[in-house]
Amino acid sequence: MNILDIIAKKRDGKELTKEEIEFFVKGYTEGSITDYQAAALTMAIYINSMNEREITDLTLAMAYSGDVLDLSTLGEVVDKHSTGGVGDKITLILMPIVASLGIPVAKMSGRGLGFTGGTVDKLESIPGYNTNVPVEEFIDNVKKIGISLIGQTLNLAPADKKLYALRDTISCTESIPLIASSIMSKKIASGANKIVIDVTSGSGAFMKNVDSAMKLANVMTKIGELAHKETKCIITDMNQPVGHAVGNILEVIEAIKILKGIELPEDIEKIITELGANMLLLANKVSNIEEGKAKILENLKNGKGYEKFVQLVQNQGGDISYIENTDKFNKARFILPIIANKSGIVSKLDALTIGKLSVYLGAGRIKKEDKIEPEVGFVLNKKIGDSVENGEVLGYVHANDEKKAINVLKENIYEIS
Ligand code: URA
Repeated sequence: MNILDIIAKKRDGKELTKEEIEFFVKGYTEGSITDYQAAALTMAIYINSMNEREITDLTLAMAYSGDVLDLSTLGEVVDKHSTGGVGDKITLILMPIVASLGIPVAKMSGRGLGFTGGTVDKLESIPGYNTNVPVEEFIDNVKKIGISLIGQTLNLAPADKKLYALRDTISCTESIPLIASSIMSKKIASGANKIVIDVTSGSGAFMKNVDSAMKLANVMTKIGELAHKETKCIITDMNQPVGHAVGNILEVIEAIKILKGIELPEDIEKIITELGANMLLLANKVSNIEEGKAKILENLKNGKGYEKFVQLVQNQGGDISYIENTDKFNKARFILPIIANKSGIVSKLDALTIGKLSVYLGAGRIKKEDKIEPEVGFVLNKKIGDSVENGEVLGYVHANDEKKAINVLKENIYEIS
């Protein structure tokens, strides 16, 4: 078998066999297939897609490209994953809350991909937080405090780890076969019994409309069935950023404020209650969705979610004085206001534009070896539907480079009508 023939076959729109898919995944993981060959095949898959059988074979080959965790000693682990978005800090808020409700949380997250942020980059913006821990410690942490959030650092789905980073740098992120296999391979390898997936839909998501989000959801649900992992997909809106903050430190601060009960943006309340209730239902902790939603809000409001978050950060080596006092976090050098140029109602706050501008400011990567700037991004006080006055401050751009901040302001990210 030869990688050039496999690339040519997919380039010409043909179906790959299980053996060809396994040959590619094995070769790329071991290094006998180069980044540029993998990039060519990935682009061919992006353009010509894959059928369900090919996607399942790709998922399983990636899932078994490294170790497969056995979490059976932890009981019923219900995992959560998002297909990605802008300002998506849901994991930071929701997982400590569900852990405080007795669901063991053993979760591996990813870095930013394309214009979307990644939970690992956010966690690493907390000084000292270690996202790279050995498997025994990961499992021990869950046994000890009920939660561990780490990166894709264990040798789990290493093929996805390489492909995920590569896709980010070759404009191959928005593809159903690539997203479905990426997410489900990690979920299968990471040993959860049941999975809730937040399938985002809108300009700031990889799936631009509800139809394609539903297609992705169906593919992942089917793969879950085949792998004996009960999978529930929830479609959520990503036409504007989630919550108010976009950018790593800024999002961590927003998550902490929510967990402390200082604020709770409407969209975040909707997403955490919906996803959380489904997790509780899958774990048989509640008998219906409404009861689940009430439990999520209860443990947010009584501070148990916050306590669990503090324990998590401490246990992973993070400095909790930053959590207790978020003023300690580094700030961007230039914080410029975004001013309304007329009175009216905010009619558009495009998540894709903001995601791309965040990458431009340094919150995400263009090349896979790029270092991110954790302090840059946006705080968007006004959201779609809010009424604003001419001259009012709508939000702030946080930048380390003044020229970039000024360029971003020229983009008029708010549409007012
Ligand atoms: N999240 C993933 O884990 N993989 C993707 O491809 C997209 C979102």
